[in-house]
Amino acid sequence: MPNQMDNIKIGNVTLEKSAALAPMAGVADRVYRLMCREYGAAYTVSEMVSAKGICYSDKKTAELCTITEGERPMGIQLFGYEADFMAEAVKIVLEYNPDIIDINMGCPVPKVVNTGAGSALMKNPKLAAEITEAAVKAAGDVPVTVKIRSGWSADTINAVEMAKAVEFAGAAAVAVHGRTRDMFYSGTADYSVIKAVKDAVKIPVIGNGDITDGESCLRMYRETGCDLVMVGRGSYGNPFIFEEIKAAIEGKDYTRPTVEEKMQVMLRHIRLMIENSQKPEEFAIHEARKHAAWYMNGYYGSAKFRGRCYTLSSYSEAENLAAEFVQLQLDRLHKN
Ligand SMILES: Cc1cc2nc3c(=O)[nH]c(=O)nc-3n(C[C@H](O)[C@H](O)[C@H](O)COP(=O)(O)O)c2cc1C
Repeated sequence: MPNQMDNIKIGNVTLEKSAALAPMAGVADRVYRLMCREYGAAYTVSEMVSAKGICYSDKKTAELCTITEGERPMGIQLFGYEADFMAEAVKIVLEYNPDIIDINMGCPVPKVVNTGAGSALMKNPKLAAEITEAAVKAAGDVPVTVKIRSGWSADTINAVEMAKAVEFAGAAAVAVHGRTRDMFYSGTADYSVIKAVKDAVKIPVIGNGDITDGESCLRMYRETGCDLVMVGRGSYGNPFIFEEIKAAIEGKDYTRPTVEEKMQVMLRHIRLMIENSQKPEEFAIHEARKHAAWYMNGYYGSAKFRGRCYTLSSYSEAENLAAEFVQLQLDRLHKN
């Protein structure tokens, strides 16, 4: 168990032993990462980037790989199924000066898996090791980490074998999402697999799956002995989770933000998305809708308001909706 904020080392990178933000394509973009870092995420990772796409100078590369200071320490995540393309892609992304390069061996999406990348590599530890070795050689001093699942399916759990293979190939850490590919994101993460990996390898192990608050983070540390925890969906509309986790680790009391504070942060998140977007406000707002809905989760009347978030078409509408939402909560409080 961490206490008083220990540090861990991944290669030559020192990270605070609290919680990292998981890579999430379509969700954890630059603004999201900045928000989570502000509230204490120990580390962030880019959305996954296609190794082959980069080699063919995909237009989206620069947008996905550019790292601003506030996001660091940050990793760039690559996915692919060919060692030579992976090595080439690593050399290209080194120009963006990532703190870490991470290889995605956990993505369950058919579009990725059907090419042989993502969690398809769970079925081929030998190829996974070759890809890792090629990336490690190309990366020089920059540590290469690998993110895996517990296995492909319930009857082929092989995270330990995979972790050992990538460790032998030179990976500096392994992140384990305790679900099989077949589970996608359903069911619950199996922490015993993460513990088994921790017991089997010497490199740092990052535990991932179902962390939603300080208590569940402490449970992950306690039950698996992992070196760092990684939070994905628990940060939806909730960058505060990283502050909460730090308080839990340090044994301090933590008061969750009030609804007013949450709405202020939501509006700031939307403003930053508009400012950061290359597109006009109405497009940026479109992207921001789901985030707005997440910030309103878990309150009285939130189902209806979440629906209204999906109709937002300007920042001023978001301001009005936030004000109405706060008022509803205050009215309810005074009634009870
Ligand atoms: C919308 C979404 C996008 C994701 N994109 C990626 C990705 O690009 N790379 C990756 O390694 N994992 C990706 N994941 C998986 C997460 O990093 C994480 O392993 C998973 O959500 C389990 O953690 P959680 O229970 O804390 O959410 C994604 C998950 C979600 C929900």
